[in-house]
Amino acid sequence: MTDTMTQPTTSASPQPGSGGRVFSGVQPSGLPHVGNHLGAFSNYIAMQDGFESIYCIVDYHALTSTHDAEVIRTATTEMALGLLALGLDPEKAVLFRQSDRLEHIELMWLLASVTPMGWVERTPSFKEKRRNQPDDVNLALFNYPVLQAADIAIYKADYVPVGKDQAAHLELAREIVRAFNTRYGETFPEPQAVFSDAPIVKGTDGENKMSKSLGNVIEIFADEETIRRQVMSMVTDTQRQRLSDPGRPEVCNVCQMHRIFSPDDYEEIWEGERSATTGCVATKSLLVERMLGYFGEARERYAELKAKPQIVEEVLAAGADTLAPRAAETLAECHDRMGLAPRR
Ligand code: TRP
Repeated sequence: MTDTMTQPTTSASPQPGSGGRVFSGVQPSGLPHVGNHLGAFSNYIAMQDGFESIYCIVDYHALTSTHDAEVIRTATTEMALGLLALGLDPEKAVLFRQSDRLEHIELMWLLASVTPMGWVERTPSFKEKRRNQPDDVNLALFNYPVLQAADIAIYKADYVPVGKDQAAHLELAREIVRAFNTRYGETFPEPQAVFSDAPIVKGTDGENKMSKSLGNVIEIFADEETIRRQVMSMVTDTQRQRLSDPGRPEVCNVCQMHRIFSPDDYEEIWEGERSATTGCVATKSLLVERMLGYFGEARERYAELKAKPQIVEEVLAAGADTLAPRAAETLAECHDRMGLAPRR
């Protein structure tokens, strides 16, 4: 990318109550898993107090790699349901579906006009997707990061809670709004990424990022048996062959998870591993227990919401309505600055 992009995306520590607007988007990939929660959703929920926050299920983005209507529809509802169950509160934050607000697409076009193709070509995610779906390198896929920049810019968001894997997209979004501001005058704030304490959550394989497509997730809303099976299948410290070998909590994914799910006694748990007094099976069983406790309320809310699916639809529709004036205002300003038709 250009020289101005050598500056890293700051992981800001925004102060609640200090003002500022929060936006984030998530792909409709079905019910959220532990990686979604620890990587970004925990911050979504934390930031709904003290910030004006807007969260979006990005179904337009999903079209860049999924062309099955039923899959997108179901996965969108499930993701929304999961977010509400995890504690996203429609009284505090706005939750909506991207395809309910067409203005995102309009702003994408305007931003595309200030985005050199080379910036996108060099984006790691584009290269990766081109490799992963060689038979479907569509034009929307190329526009993916420009649409992401538009999502953020249309509400003039200052902070964007995301997983670490989104750092390059955020950097590009900053660069795109900077390009717009330079050409047309100060219009958009430069959005700052906000990373969680566990920005990269490894899957049960102990190696790759937890992700549904890799089949290495620990689910949040599955039945207890499934969650137990997933946790018990986790790859731990591969150098520890027998119980008498000392464990290395620093490299053991199970121990790393205890840091989050057992905040009060993870050091004891780690010590048990180091001194070879506890084995992996016991440490995993304890993790299952702690996770079920941690997500207990969310799992209850999930069961309630699942019985009333119309609530999810109502929340999404109301969210989109709330944002209409905001989106219209930004587009009117852009049209004016760019010499396009006055918005009526
Ligand atoms: N690309 C993001 C992801 O895959 C999803 C996304 C779309 C997003 N638009 C956004 C994230 C705007 C933050 C802000 O996770």
